[in-house]
Amino acid sequence: MSDQIPVARPTVDDEMVERAAAALRSGRHVKGPRVEGFESEFADFCGVEHAVAVSSGTSALFLALRAAGVGEGDAVAVPGHTFFASVSPVLSLGAEPVFVDVDPETYTMDPDALAAAAETASDDLAAVLPVHLYGQPAEVGRIRDVADEHGAAVVEDACQAHGAAIDGERAGSLGDVGCFSFYPTKNMTVAGDGGMLVTDDADLAATARHLRNHGRDDSGDHVALGLNHRMDEPRAAVGREQLDRLPAWNDRRQEIAAIYRERLGDVDGVTLPDEREGVEHVYHLFVVQVDDREALRESLAERGVDTAVHYETPAHRHESVRSHVDAVPTLPETEALVDRIVSLPMFPGLDDEDVERVCAAIRDHYAEPSAEVRR
Ligand SMILES: Cc1ncc(COP(=O)(O)O)c(C=O)c1O
Repeated sequence: MSDQIPVARPTVDDEMVERAAAALRSGRHVKGPRVEGFESEFADFCGVEHAVAVSSGTSALFLALRAAGVGEGDAVAVPGHTFFASVSPVLSLGAEPVFVDVDPETYTMDPDALAAAAETASDDLAAVLPVHLYGQPAEVGRIRDVADEHGAAVVEDACQAHGAAIDGERAGSLGDVGCFSFYPTKNMTVAGDGGMLVTDDADLAATARHLRNHGRDDSGDHVALGLNHRMDEPRAAVGREQLDRLPAWNDRRQEIAAIYRERLGDVDGVTLPDEREGVEHVYHLFVVQVDDREALRESLAERGVDTAVHYETPAHRHESVRSHVDAVPTLPETEALVDRIVSLPMFPGLDDEDVERVCAAIRDHYAEPSAEVRR
């Protein structure tokens, strides 16, 4: 590993490069067998019937919501603590986001807060969009109960949770439809932009398939107003190889998380993320909470350790969202979190020595002797 430890780094090996090159040489660059193969392998991996490959996670969310029937004037419940792209598709469809606070220990949508927000929403709730943030699945069981009471669809934002599971059921298969991103820093990538929508609902999958291809059905008629959201062949070729490696990579992420827990668990001033029982957390990010974030980040940077903040501004506080919604809510947990969170380096290419270096730098900052020395 280089002297500077980054927060994230994608792995692209020779085999992936060769698969992408073969796709380029084939002359079949879109709508080909690699996309179809990737779809069926990804559906199997998630334990669902259908997968639709698209051009990004944002496109997957947009198409999933639209195919689930969300449109103008509908309400969609989303967590405040998430990436902007969990919300922008809701607004793009003319729907109204109903922002919900998160559990500060797991960073995912609080089902009690969802129930309260759903009761007071001015529009009918058409969908609930839990985000499996940082790689830990949201409490979809309890979220589903609330959604069912309101007749709303559950659209999982699994863009950070490839392979995560609750009681052995994989992210993407927990709601009505699940959406993944293959952006380069994700647990698996297509070495560029890409996404996938997965579902057991054949009609929803067929609608998403039409909509990603100009709204065109099998007869060639443009039956709905769709755009181009397709994934291309070289990306699918890389994605298939990445999917093969994903389980081993997720194992490595969990090992790294275990080292962080062991070395940082007793450091005063550092709050570690909670892992719920029965959950397979795939640690897209390892996010801790501290009171002196900027000072910690500076001292880690001086010691060659990069950090990041995911995310500095809650979704409901962005200008483009504030100008769209009727009223900007206050979400106390989300708003307190954004000043305290910091993402530590987390990617499968980190070796134990790198992780120990990050931990030693944090212990130094808080003037804690090294965990090993103290034993
Ligand atoms: C939680 C979440 N939702 C949505 C997205 C959007 O995915 P993409 O960047 O592939 O459009 C991302 C990824 O950046 C994400 O992390």
